[in-house]
Amino acid sequence: MQMSNLLRRGFLLPLSLIFSLLIVFSCGSGDGSSMKSNIKQQQYVNEGRDLYAIYCANCHGPNGKGLAELFPPVAQSDYLVADINRAICIAKNGLEGEVVVNGTNYDLAMPANEKLTNLEVAEILTFILNEMNSVDTLLLVSDVEDVLRNCED
Ligand code: HEC
Repeated sequence: MQMSNLLRRGFLLPLSLIFSLLIVFSCGSGDGSSMKSNIKQQQYVNEGRDLYAIYCANCHGPNGKGLAELFPPVAQSDYLVADINRAICIAKNGLEGEVVVNGTNYDLAMPANEKLTNLEVAEILTFILNEMNSVDTLLLVSDVEDVLRNCED
């Protein structure tokens, strides 16, 4: 009796240890990867904020609200959130021709930003979407690369 109890304990203890380790590890890796992508998203937002100030704020305003009927808003912009791929193309290639943003017509040309790398475009758009349009998303360099390859001109 005693002997088999001992045996059982001797067997169950390491077994339960292995199980709890398994649980800790599987949970850990799940949380770890989503935490990692949250950290990455936050980094892109931060980098994007600085890049926005350099490349976009002159026209679209420090808060993205635009300027009168000259420069359309990129904050709370129905046009922007309706087609994020199109916005990626505009950030890099500029835009000409009339557009309607939140019910207002705009018709000045936006120059291209040829110097922007795919990473910078991803960071700027991640910033604009998260902080100015309440769209919780992380744009990856590979996304931007694909989209830019297929812009209409
Ligand atoms: C020299 C001024 C200027 C700069 C700098 C500029 N834009 Fe624009 N942007 C415009 C104008 C003007 C339009 C409207 C173009 C039209 O009517 O065809 C526009 C339109 C847009 C649009 C589509 C309409 C909207 O408001 O949703 C997006 C998106 C946009 N710009 C993003 C950017 C981003 C991102 C940057 C920085 C990388 C940037 N722009 C820099 C002038 C500018």
